[in-house]
Amino acid sequence: MDLLKEIKKIESEAQEKFKEVENLKRLEELRVKYLGKKGKIAQIFSKMGQVEEDKKPIVGKETNILKNKIQKLYNQLKEEKEKELKADKLKSETIDVTLPGSKVNVGHKNPFTHIIDEVVELFLGMGFSIEEGPEVETEYYNFEALNIPKDHPARDLQDTLYIDDKYLLRTHTSPVQIRTMEKEDPPIKIIAPGRVYRSDELDASHSPNFHQIEGLVIDKDISFSDLKGVIEIFIHEIYGKERKIRFRPSYFPFTEPSAEVDVSCNVCKGEGCSFCSYTGWVEVLGSGMVHPNVCKMSGLDPDIYSGFAFGMGWDRIAMLKYDIDDIRVLYENDKRFIHQF
Ligand code: DAH
Repeated sequence: MDLLKEIKKIESEAQEKFKEVENLKRLEELRVKYLGKKGKIAQIFSKMGQVEEDKKPIVGKETNILKNKIQKLYNQLKEEKEKELKADKLKSETIDVTLPGSKVNVGHKNPFTHIIDEVVELFLGMGFSIEEGPEVETEYYNFEALNIPKDHPARDLQDTLYIDDKYLLRTHTSPVQIRTMEKEDPPIKIIAPGRVYRSDELDASHSPNFHQIEGLVIDKDISFSDLKGVIEIFIHEIYGKERKIRFRPSYFPFTEPSAEVDVSCNVCKGEGCSFCSYTGWVEVLGSGMVHPNVCKMSGLDPDIYSGFAFGMGWDRIAMLKYDIDDIRVLYENDKRFIHQF
């Protein structure tokens, strides 16, 4: 057949077919059929060898014109169909802003976490760093090195959860004092928050595991007034400037002198109520000047260095700050409770 006729035929056929295209898939099929490597136009080019010499330029020209026409047709339709598809998609995916949203359940920090974040930030601001120690401790670190003699009631089996003859669950965070003094040279300025254990029955004010925050400062010329200054800043920042502070002489084997620190009761403002056992005061922490024996046992010369230490119930801080009278609610993670903070 005459190639020029064939070109005309292909053109009218293509015009027809492209006109009827209903989607991109069909359009692609047509592209392959006409413009593809083995498509109709390629076939014409492959037949060029058979064309008489003088007709070659005209057949070549016509084929190129056809190719360009079909390519143009294809491009136009492709753009059109893609636009249509996008419009359809936009239409079907429209958001109905009047529909009620589905509620996202956002987690909430336990008051514990609030407290430790606050306390850590405060002490970091005063130049302290954070230390940690193991919860499974040796008798040596938990007692001996802290100058707690063998017959001290704190060693009583009633309080301490022993693992075997040598290991126990630490009853306080004070062993971190020793571990820090052993590995670091003064000046030392640390707090050590952590979990502690005692064989107590669970009730409103006791839990077999609870949390403490230990503090230790060791340097040359540290005095009791340094201790007072740090504790006062701590209490006023965490509980509020209006709270009164009272240092009471006390006894701890690892400090001499020792003091317990009370703050005025927030519930009755010091008048006396059931929260403070009608004293107007609630106890916040134990503290004192590090006992020379403790320094010595940790390898520090007590004639050169002195320091102070303090230890407080982290749970208690939360309870006092938020006037919570039952320790158990801190551990139950009841959302109705936690969401109040
Ligand atoms: N470790 C004590 C306890 O568990 C608390 C304590 C008191 C820690 C006085 C101290 C301190 O560092 O100086 O009851």
